[in-house]
Amino acid sequence: MLSETINEALNKQLVCEYSSFWLYLSMSAQTRQHNLLGFAHWLELQANEEQTHGKKILEYIEDRNGKIILGEIQKPQNEWNSMIDLFENVLTHEQMVSQKINEIYDLAHQENDNATAVFLQWFIMEQVEEEATSLSILERLKAINGMTGPLFYFDHELGKRKE
Ligand code: FEO
Repeated sequence: MLSETINEALNKQLVCEYSSFWLYLSMSAQTRQHNLLGFAHWLELQANEEQTHGKKILEYIEDRNGKIILGEIQKPQNEWNSMIDLFENVLTHEQMVSQKINEIYDLAHQENDNATAVFLQWFIMEQVEEEATSLSILERLKAINGMTGPLFYFDHELGKRKE
């Protein structure tokens, strides 16, 4: 059985993951409109991943006989000035998510909830990967500096993402 505090924190994280899904879907739509189909594909897969993160948390709450309380999904931004602007947003978003996961991890320790702490370890490592990937894309975009040829080449590369 989950404590009320952990139950509430996990439900908030569940909403955060679905807000991430919504944000990346919005980013994917924006890049598709600019004909950057590889970026759009990459962001759509990223959105799908966020859904699986949300689902994982939902199932965990149920497994621990907790209560699902679905909150409001945050309205996403719908426009970005450039791909650099967009991926700066991806990076800051993922940093914010990492911070939230870490806060729940600390809370789980305070509440002596070992199962939740162990469950969250997967998310902590996933965040390391997500921050590293978004930083690497951002740095590449900065190096490209808006040059059309290299940008479309990179777009083609990102379009090969499988999962
Ligand atoms: Fe599920 Fe990108 O955080």
